[in-house]
Amino acid sequence: MLLDEALAGAREAGTVAEKIVLAELCLSPCTACGTCDKTGRCPIADDMQEIYRLLSSCTALVFATPIYFYSVTAWAKAFIDRTQALWAQKYVLKSMPEMSARRAAFIAVGATRGKSLFDGPQLTMKYFFDAAGFTCIDSLLLKGLDEKGAVLQFPEYLEKARALGRSLVESGQ
Ligand SMILES: Cc1cc2nc3c(=O)[nH]c(=O)nc-3n(C[C@H](O)[C@H](O)[C@H](O)COP(=O)(O)O)c2cc1C
Repeated sequence: MLLDEALAGAREAGTVAEKIVLAELCLSPCTACGTCDKTGRCPIADDMQEIYRLLSSCTALVFATPIYFYSVTAWAKAFIDRTQALWAQKYVLKSMPEMSARRAAFIAVGATRGKSLFDGPQLTMKYFFDAAGFTCIDSLLLKGLDEKGAVLQFPEYLEKARALGRSLVESGQ
């Protein structure tokens, strides 16, 4: 719901926004085959191949995940690990095409109020955004949300998500 709001905000600011739900895709984990170190490409033929294309062509990215065991979800982690191919392009082969600074934002929600709830995921996202060629300029990290739809009781959170999407686009104009 927060991601939908962020995308609505991005569209309000005049961009075309596409939503990808990783859980609906066929996405294998990285097997550390080492191919990307030599070619910059991942040889696993699944839905990630289309996401590589989208990742390289988009101008901004909002990444949203619930917190599972103080981390991102397994789908999110599988996706992030597969961007090792982009890390290899950038840092091993030095073949990543020059791109103007692309902006990103991170949205995460968890049920508890633990002080360190977002520490692990924030580090993971920092290194993912760097590998994929994005600068994270905003984040919305919300605690105390558990049941499905719980966020609907907090219209201010939905407003923040919409503003995040809007400003992500406007800051690049
Ligand atoms: C497998 C699993 C692990 C979870 N681990 C945590 C956790 O470590 N800390 C926490 O605060 N919430 C945890 N939660 C609760 C979810 O983060 C919370 O319910 C969240 O609001 C789910 O968002 P969603 O409705 O968008 O899926 C976990 C939930 C599941 C299903």
